[in-house]
Amino acid sequence: METLGTLQGELHFLCGQDSAVSFPQWRNPSRLKKLATWWYGARPGASALPPAHFRRIPGRFPAISSSKLRSDLALGRDCTNDLHPDVAAYIDQHRLYGKRMVTRLSTTLSASRYAHTLNVASLAEALARRWGADPAKALLAGLLHDAGRRFRPHELARYARRRRLAVPERAIILDLDPMLLHAYASADIARREFGVRDPEVLNAIRRHTLGDRRMSLLDKILYVADACALDRSHETSAATRDLAFVDLDAALKRCVSDKLIHAVSREAWLHPLTVHLWNSLAPR
Ligand SMILES: [Fe+2]
Ligand SMILES: [Fe+2]
Repeated sequence: METLGTLQGELHFLCGQDSAVSFPQWRNPSRLKKLATWWYGARPGASALPPAHFRRIPGRFPAISSSKLRSDLALGRDCTNDLHPDVAAYIDQHRLYGKRMVTRLSTTLSASRYAHTLNVASLAEALARRWGADPAKALLAGLLHDAGRRFRPHELARYARRRRLAVPERAIILDLDPMLLHAYASADIARREFGVRDPEVLNAIRRHTLGDRRMSLLDKILYVADACALDRSHETSAATRDLAFVDLDAALKRCVSDKLIHAVSREAWLHPLTVHLWNSLAPR
């Protein structure tokens, strides 16, 4: 018998296999574990097993998962076949699960930038699942990472000045290549227009172009997802994408190296943050 506030009784928590597998990343998992008896419904084809305190619910379960449905909705995919019509109508009406976000992005970004955004969000979410980061944060960071790309260079420069964006070497960037400011503008838009307050997500958005001296797991995931998303046509993109699921740091190193080689071949100025990032990855 467990007590939770004034509620008394035996608590059982039921969830799908994918949620159960991510239990160690939930808030206070050791405390949660003691509060209930934990059950999971096995998904056809799912291989990763949840922690040992989960018991398997007998029977067969459909291949639909709520996590997948939520991310599909956030990515603007059609989920009507997997949802009860009343539920689908309610989600539409109240623009739940990021529907407002994708609608706004689809109208403010060019078609190709919007497609890139969805590709990056999808890859970032998959990489987060692979490497134990929070898939919802990765999806959110992916969706908003290029929100500032709705501006043309001179508009971006004006936005950065008006919003007083704190960008290292801002004056040089404004002079040489204002589009480099878009990551900082995107983080600003994410906070102001979409109400994102999570510093992890905002930092990942901010760092996805220039990088930083130190990169969190989420920073690395977004940086790599942006550099080798499905729509990237660079000759090494597909191989880097595969590598990212095997060795994320090696994939990151390759992405930074490709950027540096490209910049040097154009005799372009290198931002110190990118140089610092490279130095943090290079062997000493
Ligand atoms: Fe970007
Ligand atoms: Fe991007």
